[in-house]
Amino acid sequence: MSEHFDSYDASYGEVVEGSIRFSGLQHDFFLAAKADLLRRLVGERCLRQGGADVRGLDVGCGVGALHPYLDGAFDRLDGCDVSQKSLARARRDNPHITYTACTTDRLPYQDGAFDLAFASCVVHHVPPASRPNFFHEMRRVLRQGGVACIIEHNPYNPLTRIAVFRCPFDEDAVLLGAGEAARLLRDAGFRYIRSEHFLLLPSARPFARKVERALAALPLGAQYACVAYA
Ligand SMILES: C[S@@+](CC[C@H](N)C(=O)[O-])C[C@H]1O[C@@H](n2cnc3c(N)ncnc32)[C@H](O)[C@@H]1O
Repeated sequence: MSEHFDSYDASYGEVVEGSIRFSGLQHDFFLAAKADLLRRLVGERCLRQGGADVRGLDVGCGVGALHPYLDGAFDRLDGCDVSQKSLARARRDNPHITYTACTTDRLPYQDGAFDLAFASCVVHHVPPASRPNFFHEMRRVLRQGGVACIIEHNPYNPLTRIAVFRCPFDEDAVLLGAGEAARLLRDAGFRYIRSEHFLLLPSARPFARKVERALAALPLGAQYACVAYA
């Protein structure tokens, strides 16, 4: 698995652009929508306890493409990945963020270290048999009351299916729907699980985002976020 994404350290952005070009949208648009969603979670979920820093963890951060869009969202953001070459690129591009390699099935952090842990387009690359452990590890590194956010491709959206089919690094992808993500979260001990579909409309305008949120329960958007409390 590590070697798989090591080959895309220099070309990750261009490869994603190539697979979504047919939609007329750019990678930036997707990254900004995910960052907006994560910022909303940090705000909504009252993650700041007293005066303590809000700590975020990006599990499977890859080359750190999302991190410039999250500037200021957390007091401290960490990223980890199994791909050492992706992490080297992430370190070059985002020198203020701490990146750590995942070298075993255990995430390289202490229990309860984070307020919010997210994994964006990672789980479909984790073999189904390894997913329960992946979710348990996300639960372990969150403090009591911390939030997990799993962002995934919506397998019921035909345009998403085309993008995945066209993306060379998705050759190993085993997509999972929001129901399956929720089940994995529940089995790992998470509570108050909810899903929202997003990236339905090709606009980042506030009105478009409002419409998307009104329709978020329906499996229409290109991706979904499954959110749960530890
Ligand atoms: C499609 S990329 C997504 C990268 C980034 N999250 C983003 O949204 O741009 C998937 C990433 O997940 C990483 N990955 C896959 N399995 C992993 C695991 N078990 N633990 C940590 N990272 C993993 C891969 O190395 C790759 O960098």
